[in-house]
Amino acid sequence: MQTKDSAATIGGVTPETLARTYGTPLLVIDTTVLDAALARFAALGAALDLDVCYAGKALLVVALVERLKATTIGLDVCSLGELFTAERAGFPAERMLLHGCGKTGDELAAAAAGRVGRVVIDNREELERLAAIVALADNVRPVDVLLRVNPGIEAHTHAYVRTGGEDSKFGFSRAGIDAAIGAVLDSPRLRLIGIHTHIGSNLFEVEPYEASIAIALKIYARAAQRGAPMRELIAGGGFGVDAHPSGDRLNLEAILRALVARADVEAARLGITRPRIGIEPGRAIVAEAGTSLYRVVTVKHQGSRRFAIVDGSIADNPRPALYGAYHHPVALGRNFAAQNEETTVCGRSCENDELVVAPLPVDLGAGDLLAMGTAGAYTYSMASNYNRFPRPPVVFAGDGNHRAVTRRESLADLIRNDVVEYD
Ligand SMILES: Cc1ncc(COP(=O)(O)O)c(C=O)c1O
Repeated sequence: MQTKDSAATIGGVTPETLARTYGTPLLVIDTTVLDAALARFAALGAALDLDVCYAGKALLVVALVERLKATTIGLDVCSLGELFTAERAGFPAERMLLHGCGKTGDELAAAAAGRVGRVVIDNREELERLAAIVALADNVRPVDVLLRVNPGIEAHTHAYVRTGGEDSKFGFSRAGIDAAIGAVLDSPRLRLIGIHTHIGSNLFEVEPYEASIAIALKIYARAAQRGAPMRELIAGGGFGVDAHPSGDRLNLEAILRALVARADVEAARLGITRPRIGIEPGRAIVAEAGTSLYRVVTVKHQGSRRFAIVDGSIADNPRPALYGAYHHPVALGRNFAAQNEETTVCGRSCENDELVVAPLPVDLGAGDLLAMGTAGAYTYSMASNYNRFPRPPVVFAGDGNHRAVTRRESLADLIRNDVVEYD
C-alpha cells in the first residue's frame, strides 16, 4: 500500500466498510494472507522434515486456532489462558507444547493431566515441581519434557525481545544443563525427549540459529548418551518480518535449509542420528495478515511537528512504545493531495504513545481512516485496558466476506471485575 490509497481492500473488503461495520480501532486479519502463511510453513515443514508449532503468544483467538487445527502445524501455548483458548477450539492435546518461564502449579498440573503433548522446562524449580506433581498423581502417564537451554547467544534484535543472551532470564544456563538432565533422568515419570532453544524475536540472520543449534545438539548428544530417549530439538521462533514496504523479505526457505544442514553436519560430527528439528514461528505466521484501522481524531501542529492523533493507542498496540516496532501507515478511503508532510501518528492515551513517524498527506484530517500494516502479531495479544479503553474487535476478512471473531469490549466489560460494595 502507498501512503494514500483510495482503492485498497483487505481480504477483498474496503477498509471503509470494515470501519463502518465494526467501528475503530479495529484489527483486521486478512485470512487469505494468514492461510498462505500457514500453508507455506506446513509445506516447508513437509519438505524439510521439520516440526512446525505456531507460537500462540503472537495472536490467539478461537477462530484462529480452528484454522490452525485444519493444518499440520502444532501449537505452543504458555499459559492456562492460551491452553483454554486452544481447547475451546478442539485443538488436539498431543499437538500442543507448554512453554513459559514461570509456570504455575495449575499449568504444571494441566501438563501432568495430559492436556498438552510436551512440556518445555525452563528452570530447576519448575522441573522439581513437575516431578513432584507427577510422582503424587495416580494414573499419570509419563510426561514428555524438553529442557530449554540458554545457549548464551546474543541475537541482533531489540534487547526487549532478545531471549538467548547469557544475561537473559530464559532457560537453563549451559553450566546448569547437565545437572538438569540428571534430574529428569532421576524422575521416573518424566521422560526427557528433547532440547529447546529460542534466541530472540524478529531475527534476519541464519548464523545465530546455526550457532545455537550446534550448542543444543552437543547437549542433546550428552543426554542421549546418558540414556534419555531423545528425539527432538527445537530451534525456536523469531523469524523476522520487516514491516517497511521496501524492507528485505526473509528468505525463510534458505534459513530453514541452512538450519537443517547445520544440524546434519553437527550430528555427523557427534556420531549421532540427527534429531527431528522443530521451529516455533509466531510473528512470521500472523504479522503480515494483520492491519490496524484507526480514525484520525485530530491533526495539529505543535512546535516543529505535525501530529495526527488517532482513536487507538498504546492500549491496542504497545509495540512501538515497547520496542520501537514499525507499522507502515497508509491514509485510506478518499483521494488525498499528492503532497505529503512528515507526521507523528499518536494514540489518545495519557502516555507518550507515538505509533509511527512517517510522511502522510498534507490534507489528512479528522475522520480520515488510517491503516497500519503488519499488525497481526503481538498487538491484540498484548493489548490492555489502559485508560479504560475497551479492547478492539478482531475481524477476519477474506474473499470479500468478513466476520468479527472477537467482539469489541463494552463499557460493561470494563467493570465486570470491579467489586462494587454498595450494590
Ligand atoms: C519460546 C518462544 N518460542 C517462539 C516464540 C515466537 O517468536 P516469534 O513470534 O518472533 O516467531 C517466542 C516469542 O517470544 C518464544 O518465547
